[in-house]
Amino acid sequence: MSNGYHVAVVGATGAVGQEMLNVLQRRRFPVSKITALASSRSVGKTVTFGETAVPVQELKADSFKGVQIALFSAGGSRSREFAPHAVKAGAVVIDNSSAFRMDKDVPLVVPEINPHAIKGHKGIIANPNCSTIAMVVPLNPLHRAFGVKRVNVCTYQAASGAGAAAMEELRQETRAVLDSKPYARKIFPQQYAFNLFPHNSAMDEQGYAEEEVKMIRETHKIMEAPQIRVNATCVRVPVLRAHSEALNIEFERDVSPEQAYQVLAKAPGVLVHENRAKNMWATPVDASGQDPVYVGRLRRDVSQPNTLDLWLVSDQLLKGAALNAVQIAELL
Ligand SMILES: NC(=O)c1ccc[n+]([C@@H]2O[C@H](COP(=O)([O-])OP(=O)(O)OC[C@H]3O[C@@H](n4cnc5c(N)ncnc54)[C@H](OP(=O)(O)O)[C@@H]3O)[C@@H](O)[C@H]2O)c1
Repeated sequence: MSNGYHVAVVGATGAVGQEMLNVLQRRRFPVSKITALASSRSVGKTVTFGETAVPVQELKADSFKGVQIALFSAGGSRSREFAPHAVKAGAVVIDNSSAFRMDKDVPLVVPEINPHAIKGHKGIIANPNCSTIAMVVPLNPLHRAFGVKRVNVCTYQAASGAGAAAMEELRQETRAVLDSKPYARKIFPQQYAFNLFPHNSAMDEQGYAEEEVKMIRETHKIMEAPQIRVNATCVRVPVLRAHSEALNIEFERDVSPEQAYQVLAKAPGVLVHENRAKNMWATPVDASGQDPVYVGRLRRDVSQPNTLDLWLVSDQLLKGAALNAVQIAELL
């Protein structure tokens, strides 16, 4: 279409949905019409798309007439229920939830890594988990250059990863703790202000949180490298926006930090961001609102050969969600 696409944003009032509208606008994605969908609670509200106030409609089975691209970020159960209706109406669905990510018929795509995978789509393309995207964007070029045998990752995940209400809970609870007032938590099971806890997703019988299992399985699928051994420990930290991760990467052979820096300096979607002389490294505040995955602090692991440590920070509402989804739409 010459004058653009009819795009629906499902979950348009949410943390990711808002960023989707911003990113579509900022990247000048060719949009002829925007349909903003959310729950019945949001009917009567508007969302902003550029200069335009778009009324929010309730998500229903018949919401997708004429829609060509549907960006879903309203939770897994809404994706499972409504994505098939969108596909039936002729739309391509790009889904941010975990509902379809591991289906063998559904491509799981990071455009810098496996853009070819979208070819096989049958109407639904999955956007990977945010912590996984942040990790694979620098890990994949290192793997292609040197061969990665194993990665052990610890995450430091922001409130924004759990949505707009979680960010508000962190703000309000921080205020309450500072003022020595009680606070009734609605989102997180434990005190979040001035505290941290292992990821609050469901735990399996081996003791892994669902978030950790996603990082393992999705990395294999996106990088098409099931032989890489992956281990993850995911932690929620009281940061408003942008996830950080510490990676310990074992290679097939000796790799110097300088060699790894050379690869990362040229890697798409990666920004080496550090000031070694001043002992300054990327922080969530630096990376918030920014597209690239910020990396640095490469150093040899003194405890075993062929192993490097790497620090990264990524705005997971952007590269971990909205930006990656819009990049997939651009590939289409
Ligand atoms: N946050 C992240 O970094 C991130 C990253 C990757 C993927 N995701 C995924 O993206 C999805 C949304 O995440 P978020 O962080 O944006 O959450 P959020 O801020 O809580 O937003 C949730 C959105 O879903 C809508 N919604 C909830 N129940 C609905 C229903 N019954 N019918 C229609 N719409 C409904 C909400 O509409 P109302 O405002 O009307 O309630 C809101 O627009 C989740 O599947 C999440 O796993 C999030």
